[in-house]
Amino acid sequence: MPPTSTSQRTEVVRGEGAIAQLGKLTRGLSGRKALLVTDPGIVAAGHVQAALESLKKFNIDVRVFDGARENPTTANVESGLAVAKDYQPDLFIGLGGGSSMDCAKGINFVFSCGGKMQDYWGVGKATGELLPMIAIPTTAGTGSEMQSFALISDKDTHIKMACGDKRAAAKIAILDPLLTLTQPHSVTVLTGIDAISHAVETCVTTKRSEVSVDFSCKAWKALAMNFSKVLQDATDVKARTKMQLGAAHAGVAIENSMLGAAHALANPLTAEYDIAHGQAVGLMLPHVVKYNATKCESDYQMLMKEIGQTGGGYELAELLTRFCMEGGLKVRLRDLNVEEEKLSTLADAAAVQWTGTFNPVSVDAPALLAIYEDAF
Ligand SMILES: [Fe+2]
Repeated sequence: MPPTSTSQRTEVVRGEGAIAQLGKLTRGLSGRKALLVTDPGIVAAGHVQAALESLKKFNIDVRVFDGARENPTTANVESGLAVAKDYQPDLFIGLGGGSSMDCAKGINFVFSCGGKMQDYWGVGKATGELLPMIAIPTTAGTGSEMQSFALISDKDTHIKMACGDKRAAAKIAILDPLLTLTQPHSVTVLTGIDAISHAVETCVTTKRSEVSVDFSCKAWKALAMNFSKVLQDATDVKARTKMQLGAAHAGVAIENSMLGAAHALANPLTAEYDIAHGQAVGLMLPHVVKYNATKCESDYQMLMKEIGQTGGGYELAELLTRFCMEGGLKVRLRDLNVEEEKLSTLADAAAVQWTGTFNPVSVDAPALLAIYEDAF
């Protein structure tokens, strides 16, 4: 592997009950007026209240915007921006799943640098410093807390825009495993499978480095060894802790290595059929692993060895399929009502996904169609 630089610019504060540190950490970043971005489910779970209590102890003024939604859109960002313009915060807090954290980043981009969300589609488009942000994940999934990217969908075109800039990364991520206990079972499954797919895809991309592979392996081990445990016992705090750390490590890996063809294949399924991201990527990943196996066999052997198992790409693909089935997810496209005659249109859409360009074995529309057909 050629020498590369590795980015890790987010301080991690972790532990059971770590959300109680929020006030102190906000003050440490010179925050006096925080805009907390979240969604109604997180409010109902009581996590916003816990955040507010900690902020109050340090006399930090706070406004709550609970308009983040799953797969956040430019409309969600605009609503939050209106609140920010009225309130004039000096710090952002993203509390929730990837959607809340991405929405907070999105609002921060436009509030701090002006213009509209679309202006920041791509890499390094910020025109100046952004306000400091604290990310507090309540799922073990996207790893957004460790990334400089916000995924925001254009409300008109429905295109998912990856908006990334080093200055958008959270200054601090608070990893409190107790916050993940309230996830509904389906969210544990979908976000867990997503995190697993991040570990596997980042491990083999064309952009990986020795350090990113190390993060991929650490993430994979933590996630693969604990996914079944959290499904069997939602209150297993030790396993939840490992899942949360695994997702964060995978987030660091993404930041340095990007993703691969499973994400390129998943995005059109979500756009066209509204299939949840974790379901779409979890279904496609074993087929991508098989597609990549000729080139990546030794990497896949390494991942199997990491969890004390033997085998390579084939065995890894089998294991990934088992994870999906354990979580009650579908493992064939036909079972999600995807139409066979639409596969070539979907493959055309997958072929223009940026993330596919980092796949270790190059993919074009015919190759992607063959992978969809394999998964059908
Ligand atoms: Fe993902």
